[in-house]
Amino acid sequence: MNRETITLPLGVNSYDIVLEPCCLGQAGDLLNLNRKVLVVTDSGVPASYADSVAAASLAAEVVCIPQGEASKNFDHFRMLLSRMLAFGMGRGDCVVAVGGGVVGDMSGFAAACYMRGIDFYNIPTTVLSQVDSSIGGKTAIDLDGIKNVVGAFYQPRRVLIDPTTLSTLSRRQISNGLAEAVKMALCFDQEAFARFESLDYEAELALLASGRPSPALIRIISDALHTKRDVVEKDEKEQGLRRVLNFGHTLGHGIESVNVKNGMLHGECVALGMLPMCSDAVRERLLPVLAKLGLPTTCDSDPDQVMQAVVHDKKKFGGKIRSILVDAVGTFTEKELTPEELRQRYTGFFLS
Ligand code: GLY
Repeated sequence: MNRETITLPLGVNSYDIVLEPCCLGQAGDLLNLNRKVLVVTDSGVPASYADSVAAASLAAEVVCIPQGEASKNFDHFRMLLSRMLAFGMGRGDCVVAVGGGVVGDMSGFAAACYMRGIDFYNIPTTVLSQVDSSIGGKTAIDLDGIKNVVGAFYQPRRVLIDPTTLSTLSRRQISNGLAEAVKMALCFDQEAFARFESLDYEAELALLASGRPSPALIRIISDALHTKRDVVEKDEKEQGLRRVLNFGHTLGHGIESVNVKNGMLHGECVALGMLPMCSDAVRERLLPVLAKLGLPTTCDSDPDQVMQAVVHDKKKFGGKIRSILVDAVGTFTEKELTPEELRQRYTGFFLS
């Protein structure tokens, strides 16, 4: 199988991202597991994944948290730390996350805090975490209903991306993660966006479902990883360029807050959030890509409620809301918009 290794150069915190079908089964060779290892996973991930990492370790404990964002809380975080302590883990031991963004974010933060920081490896198993959240060292938990409000930048020692783990995901979950890859292509990589346009999604999903790696999906993951690597290398702590990765997230978060009870997924809301922030010409190309992926392109959420959530999210920045706009595929501009301007973009596209 082809292996691609992408290095994220961050000085002493540099690390490799290994993208290779079936690399999960090589964790014992690719990671230093010759020590005590806390393997963290969730109830939605096949147990065999975490078990195989544990089997490749000198001594391991597997912790399985309930699937879903609600688990990314202080109680589970504390439980992880208690388990590390009870297992007798020391500064030379490590944590391995096997799962999606919730598992990765929370166990990365636990690794950052335990004994002032022990090694952390990430093995993301969802599209969203493979293309985005496992890279770049954002670790966090939620507190008092606010997402990711307690956390740290703490880089993993290595990330293993095994695209065959995507075969157990629903089509909806795959599309949900691909929304973040579309976002990166739109802002940074016109060739990657063109690959989305020519993607035969049904054929690639069929390949994946039959247990074979999907070359087109692997290419999409690779494109996104290259973009993310370049962005994080230039702006690890999100002082500037990394903010562009929030494209689609301002209105997207507003839409997500209003639709929590409808079960809308994060990537679906990001897909919607991108549409009003593009030029007409870009939107004309984006709409068929989102439709092909089965992502939503219409939204009738009440603009007052959406904007209330947007402004609540952003209140710390004062009156204006820093927004990313895409006027040409592969490029972006940053603009401060008033809440009224943002509202007009939302209503102008979705409700007129
Ligand atoms: N998911 C956006 C970032 O890592 O900055």
